[in-house]
Amino acid sequence: MNDQVRGWVRAARHLFVLTGAGMSAESGVPTFRDALTGLWSRFRPEDLATEDAFRANPAMVWDWYASRRAAVAQVEPNAGHRALADFARRHPGRLTVVTQNVDGLHQRAGSEGVLALHGNIAEDKWLDVPRACCDPQAVVAGSPPSCSTCGNQLRPAVVWFGESLPLRELQEAERAARDCDVMLVVGTSGVVYPAAGLARLTKGRVAVINPHPSDLDDAADAVLRGTAAQLLPQLLTDG
Ligand code: APR
Repeated sequence: MNDQVRGWVRAARHLFVLTGAGMSAESGVPTFRDALTGLWSRFRPEDLATEDAFRANPAMVWDWYASRRAAVAQVEPNAGHRALADFARRHPGRLTVVTQNVDGLHQRAGSEGVLALHGNIAEDKWLDVPRACCDPQAVVAGSPPSCSTCGNQLRPAVVWFGESLPLRELQEAERAARDCDVMLVVGTSGVVYPAAGLARLTKGRVAVINPHPSDLDDAADAVLRGTAAQLLPQLLTDG
């Protein structure tokens, strides 16, 4: 099965790779829904990953993201991230990487033009529409930092539950999903839309890469029971 998918990748005019938290698991970044180790097995998303949660308890949410941000800064991209970046360097214009991850590891591995549908944990944005006084360089330090004039707070620049995805990235991802002839779906449970829906947009061949069953297995022409760092280097090699 791996040889079959490797053949699809080699022959692909346009390869689309959708990644989720499992892509970064071998870098040491916890996933969300893996039993016991997933973040949502230890925390309630509605307490931490919604605007309401932030407005109700900004310090707790800000500190939780600050701890995740610090943890991500300590890890490195894995062989899967590097295999994707190397493939793009060898085959310019043939690969689209779309990620649900906010850890920035694809970008740190050298992937360019990554469509980060859920934002980036290393970046902040204003909670309320910024006024002329809201200058990120002139904030009052705190959890969270705030505008020294109007008190507008900074928040993590990630997409929280109930929020819209960045329109440009989503539209570009949908366009690429429709255009691609091979799609690899790597390390996602496939339960969060619209990202998961990308796997159902393509008319091309779909291969799921996941050590466990996912909600996108039924959309796949091939399911490879393995991990991102093990399988991607094998599938993306020219050798
Ligand atoms: N390689 C590949 N897949 C793996 C690996 C690995 N080493 N380890 C775990 N997985 C798989 C798990 O089996 C699971 O199917 O990765 C998937 C991770 O699923 P989730 O934890 O649900 O993460 P994800 O699908 O990215 O979640 C989507 O939900 O909480 C929101 O915004 C958050 O972007 C996230 C979205």
